[in-house]
Amino acid sequence: MRNKSIGIFDSGIGGLTVYKAIKEKLPHERVVYLGDTARLPYGSKSAETIVKFSEDNAFFLVERQVKIIVVACNSSSSYALPTLQGKLDIPVIGVIEPGAEAAIKVSQKRIGVIGTTATISSGSYEKAILERNQDIEIISKDCPLFVPLVEEGWLNHKVTRLVIEEYLLPLKEKGIDSLVLGCTHYPVLKDLIGDVLGKEIQLIDSAETVAEKTFSILKSFGWLHQDRHFGITDDEFYVTDFPERFKKVGEIFLQRKIDRVNTAAI
Ligand code: DGL
Repeated sequence: MRNKSIGIFDSGIGGLTVYKAIKEKLPHERVVYLGDTARLPYGSKSAETIVKFSEDNAFFLVERQVKIIVVACNSSSSYALPTLQGKLDIPVIGVIEPGAEAAIKVSQKRIGVIGTTATISSGSYEKAILERNQDIEIISKDCPLFVPLVEEGWLNHKVTRLVIEEYLLPLKEKGIDSLVLGCTHYPVLKDLIGDVLGKEIQLIDSAETVAEKTFSILKSFGWLHQDRHFGITDDEFYVTDFPERFKKVGEIFLQRKIDRVNTAAI
């Protein structure tokens, strides 16, 4: 198992925020990344559809011989995690629980949670946060326009700023002290969101906590690969459509060259 890779999937480039944290925490591991760009966005789909797409993605990664699957998508994590955990005989982790853990560490009393329509209507963050601390007030808001803006590569665009203001200034007015970026695409907009909301509101994303969790699971099984360092060129990237666009926007976000993005038939 030690020599196998870590599998990560998302609907698109959002999971690269988790990929980045995993590469920082686990530089000796090779990663197979899948972005289901042909069927993106997931956040506007029904629970049944999200579960079906998530299963397809997970089975694809299992065929690529991975030792653990990181569901780097909040929409999939909200609906498909128990199904995937029940069907696969390797560990499968999601991003909601780690996000909730990160949130309660920094919030004083009022947390804003933003995500796709699917994630917000699942109530998964409320549940995970309130299970850990019942005294925290949660204000949730779906922000469906963020994902297409990120996929388009409009990471520092005036239109993106306007959309951020429209969605998030009402949350600021309600006095949130922290904001959970409950979609893996959103940390790509972290600088711009921080600029609009100001320094008093802490921005939380689950990527680092997910990377720590991945590390501790692999360690506990004795599955850490320690022999050599693996860089981005050792990793495999797959998408289900438009590899060129993924490569272009992914490189802007990672500030690294991605050698090759393959098309996956799933
Ligand atoms: N990045 C995903 C998430 O965390 C999904 C975005 C989408 O496809 O709507 O929810």
